[in-house]
Amino acid sequence: MRTITIFDTTLRDGEQSPGVNLSPREKVEIAIQLERLGVNVIEAGFAASSAGDMQAVREIASRVKNASVCSLSRSVKGDIDQAWEALRAAESPYLHLFLATSPIHREYKLRMSREQVIERVREAIRYAKRLFPIVEFSCEDAGRTEIDFLAEVVREAIKAGAGVINLPDTVGYLTPNEYAQMFMNVRKAVPEVEQVRLSAHCHDDLGMAVANSLAAIEAGVDQVECTINGIGERAGNAALEEIALAIKTREQYYQLQTTLNLREIHRTSRMVSKLTGMMVPGNKAVVGANAFAHESGIHQDGMLKNRETYEIMRPETVGLTESRLVLGKHSGRHAFRDKLLQLGYELNEEQLNQLFIRFKELADRKKDVADEDIVALVEEKMSDA
Ligand code: KIV
Ligand code: ZN
Repeated sequence: MRTITIFDTTLRDGEQSPGVNLSPREKVEIAIQLERLGVNVIEAGFAASSAGDMQAVREIASRVKNASVCSLSRSVKGDIDQAWEALRAAESPYLHLFLATSPIHREYKLRMSREQVIERVREAIRYAKRLFPIVEFSCEDAGRTEIDFLAEVVREAIKAGAGVINLPDTVGYLTPNEYAQMFMNVRKAVPEVEQVRLSAHCHDDLGMAVANSLAAIEAGVDQVECTINGIGERAGNAALEEIALAIKTREQYYQLQTTLNLREIHRTSRMVSKLTGMMVPGNKAVVGANAFAHESGIHQDGMLKNRETYEIMRPETVGLTESRLVLGKHSGRHAFRDKLLQLGYELNEEQLNQLFIRFKELADRKKDVADEDIVALVEEKMSDA
C-alpha cells in the first residue's frame, strides 16, 4: 500500500477565498479539528503576511502535536525568519517556500531572468535549511512553465536541500493528462526527484482540481495539497473530502491509503462552512446535503432492497448517521410505506393506496414533503374515516 500524504491548506489557500477572514481563535479551532481528521500537514497561514496570521500560526504550532505545522513564505530571508519565529515551538515545523517560474510571472510579476530565479531559489532554500528540518519548495505556476526550465529549478531546489517539491497548477489551467505528463516529464529529466516527496497542488478554475490531483497520484506523486469543501482563491482548490473518498472507494484496486479518520469529514466540513461563512451547495460531492439523499421512486426502491444499487459509499463512512430517502413527486409507494412505518403508522393496503394518491397530489404542489406533512395526511385520513 502506498500512503498518500494529505497536506491541508484550508487555513492558508482556503482563507484566500474572497470574503473569508478567520480570526486566530477560529483558525486554532479548525486546526485542532484537522488534527482529529488525521491530516499530515496543516498549512496554518502565511506568518509574514500579517500580525494576525503570525499569532495564528504560532498558536497552532504550540497546540498541534500529531501533524506537521507549516507556514507559507516567499523566497526571501525576512519571510523565512518570521515563519521560524512562528513555528519554532512546533513538534514538527515545516516551511513552504515558493517562487514563480513561468515566463509570464517571471517577466511581468517578478521581472527576473531565469538565472536570477535559480539563484534566488538556491539562496532561499539554503538559508531555510539552517532553521527548518523540512522545506517544501513550490514552483508557482509550474503548469505554465517551460519543461526544461522547470526541470532545472527542481534539480537546483533538491541540490539546495528541499525535501518536498510541489508543482502547482496555480491557475487551474491543465487537464488531468497534461498535469500527469508534467510530473512524468520532470521525473524523467531529474532522477533526483525520487529522493524527495513530490506534491500536487491544484486549483479548480476549469473544475478539474480533484481529477488533476488523482492523475498526479497515478503519475507517482505522494502528496496532495487540498482544502476542506474545496475553498480557495477564485474557483477554489482541490477538495480534500473528494480526494479522500476517491482514494477510499478504490483503495484495493490502486493499493492506496491515507491516514485520515474519514468519520470526521462531515464534522470538519460543517465547522469550516460555519466559520468561513461559505455555504456548501446541496449537490456538493461527499459533504453536500443531497450527497446521500435519494428522491426518485426507482432509486428509493433500489436503496431499500440493497444500498449499493445507488450508493458507492456509505454516509456512515464520512460521519453521517444514515442516507435520506427524500419524499417528493418522484417517490414511489415502497418508500412511502417505509416512511409511514418509520413514523409509526401501519396501514392496510387499501388505506395505503388512498393515502398514496393524496401524497402524490401534495408532492406535485410541494418540492419536498416533510415528515410533518405525512403525519398531517394520515391524521386527516383517520378523522375522515
Ligand atoms: O497555487 C499556488 O501556486 C500556491 C502556491 C503558493 C503554492 O498556492
Ligand atoms: Zn494555490
